[in-house]
Amino acid sequence: MSNNLNVTLIDEEIVMADEEFIVSKTDLRGNITYVNRTFMEMALLNEEQLLGKNHNVIRHPDMPKGVFKFLWQTLKDENEFFGFVKNLRSDGRYYWVFANVTAEYDRTEKSTGFFSVRRTPPASAIQVIAPIYQQMLQLENSANSAKVGEQESIKFLQQKLEELQIDYQSFVINLFNEA
Ligand SMILES: Cc1cc2nc3c(=O)[nH]c(=O)nc-3n(C[C@H](O)[C@H](O)[C@H](O)COP(=O)(O)O)c2cc1C
Repeated sequence: MSNNLNVTLIDEEIVMADEEFIVSKTDLRGNITYVNRTFMEMALLNEEQLLGKNHNVIRHPDMPKGVFKFLWQTLKDENEFFGFVKNLRSDGRYYWVFANVTAEYDRTEKSTGFFSVRRTPPASAIQVIAPIYQQMLQLENSANSAKVGEQESIKFLQQKLEELQIDYQSFVINLFNEA
């Protein structure tokens, strides 16, 4: 599977220190307007390579499209998003984050963009989430169209949550806290 950095994937994880945070901001269309130092250090990219771009520059091909569809839908519904994301570094390696994405507002309470803070997830959470993402990705790749694939992969996630009798947000927050 291709990636936006055009790098050869290396199946090696880089783990961010527990006390670090990766922070970025975007405008309403998702164009990056700010990144902190930790973002650049983890992605191995500089401001020039990031500002004005979409976060999909660091999108890892192992991430199902359904997750991002759900992220954008959550923001559109004016809710905050929590979730696990596998990101790509410019050296081909990857890092997992637990992301919180919220809207930013100006003084008139008009939404001006989005803000994301990411922390290092516990390995136990990744052990649960990675196989779910893998199944979502498989559904997406075997569907006749991208749209159908996305719908099927989101349906799979919803069914999984129904089986576990838990809502999405509680599920991911519990996984993050259960270390
Ligand atoms: C504030 C914010 C932060 C985001 N952070 C990431 C991120 O760390 N990694 C990522 O792959 N996508 C992130 N996204 C989602 C991307 O904008 C994009 O939807 C995703 O990478 C899928 O790319 P695609 O639509 O080209 O497939 C973020 C979006 C917003 C609004």
